Amino acid sequence: MSEKIFTLKDNTTGVAAELQSHEGTLGPEVIDVRKLYAQTGKFTFDPGFASTASCKSAITFIDGDEGVLLYRGYPVEQLAAKSSFIEVCYLLLYGELPTQVELDKFDNSIRTHTMINETMLRLFNGFHHDAHPMAMVSGVVGSMSAFYHDTMDIQNARHREIFSHRIVAKLPTIAAAAYKHTLGQPFMYPRNDLDYSSNLLNMFFSVPAEDFELDPVAVEAIDLLLILHADHEQNCSTSTVRLAGSSGANPYSAIAAGISALWGPAHGGANEAVLNMLEKIGSVKNINKYVAKAKDKDDAFRLMGFGHRVYKNFDPRATIIRDMCHKVLEKLGRKDDPLFELALELEQVALKDDYFVEKKLYPNVDFYSGIIYRALGIHPSMFTVMFAIARTVGWVSHWQEMITDAEHRIGRPRQLYTGPENRDYLDVAKR
Ligand code: SDX
Repeated sequence: MSEKIFTLKDNTTGVAAELQSHEGTLGPEVIDVRKLYAQTGKFTFDPGFASTASCKSAITFIDGDEGVLLYRGYPVEQLAAKSSFIEVCYLLLYGELPTQVELDKFDNSIRTHTMINETMLRLFNGFHHDAHPMAMVSGVVGSMSAFYHDTMDIQNARHREIFSHRIVAKLPTIAAAAYKHTLGQPFMYPRNDLDYSSNLLNMFFSVPAEDFELDPVAVEAIDLLLILHADHEQNCSTSTVRLAGSSGANPYSAIAAGISALWGPAHGGANEAVLNMLEKIGSVKNINKYVAKAKDKDDAFRLMGFGHRVYKNFDPRATIIRDMCHKVLEKLGRKDDPLFELALELEQVALKDDYFVEKKLYPNVDFYSGIIYRALGIHPSMFTVMFAIARTVGWVSHWQEMITDAEHRIGRPRQLYTGPENRDYLDVAKR
């Protein structure tokens, strides 16, 4: 790996720092600033971390200019076309595509870890029926650290593997329990004879009173959406998991922190916000009004599902999801879904508008996913939960990579202090 030296010089004092650079396998090289403060007494300043590499990682690579997304080197387009979510989970966790024996063993381990502790089920009775599913899921996932604190030695490789299988296997069950709680319907137990996506849909939609027939189109669509949302480098929620986990905290609580971060509308909450936005726009004739609002600096309105910190080209996932949208709506006899028509027209208007072109704002992964979820009968309040189910394997993979990195330290950024200088306490009578 070629190393270069960058000199950073303070032209006022002449003090210079010699900083080493490092090159990775792909993507921009990095300037190592770990010695900067010691050499100069100065910090770097990068709110939002747009120019900061927080770690080394071998899991996912994104080229935002070229619209490239690789999971362990494999293009997401190829995995979407040829793989399955359970196989992608193995790839992300273990770094290589599994042999058939390895895949069968892993699939069986996941299927036999899908049930949750019955005491955990009773936690849902503590939530009001109209609690947001994301609030319930993040709370119940956090409670897993209360159930598994004594079998969670993070320095033990087998404990880490059991944790990773447990949390990937149980997220759909916890999500389904939250959904059934909002519906006032009985919880449906997981079934070990069903594959991951079929089991998820069965827990969401079956009821004890009648048989439930799985639609293969729905199963295929869910499996594809889970693949496309599985990981995405050092995004907000993944960085949250890494930071929370860096203190040595119970990993279930680190995942719960990631779920909370994902919920924000600027991040994974955008898929629910897109649908709310489309319903608010209501008709093609209102598109120009809302595009103008999105461009207005004085208006807080943004086109949800557009823009990305890294992609300054099409989000490759959005293209795949848009095509899957056509297929799902066609097969479900919903091809004239007015919301989908509105979304297609909004995309065309925005992509021709100078503001979006100049700022390189393209549809992202969240723009079309909600339309598919809605067509499959999933409630908008569950859209970000679907994202969390998929991203859990990415969060766990990054947590494991961090914990097993001998160089990892507790994450503790510094700041540019802009508060008051040192001052003495004043008695209330003198204020
Ligand atoms: C996800 O990081 C990931 O990888 C995330 C994710 C993943 O898989 O983990 O890909 C999933 O979170 C996708 C993003 C979902 N969020 C949304 O769709 C919400 C709408 N998008 C915006 O909030 C925004 O684009 C972000 C949050 C996605 C990106 O924000 P940045 O990188 O901080 O960009 P910015 O806010 O600095 O915007 C740059 C400019 C600004 O204008 P100027 O101040 O330069 O004049 O573009 C404008 C913004 O006002 N802008 C938008 C816009 N997004 C950015 N203007 C109108 N509508 C938008 N959607």
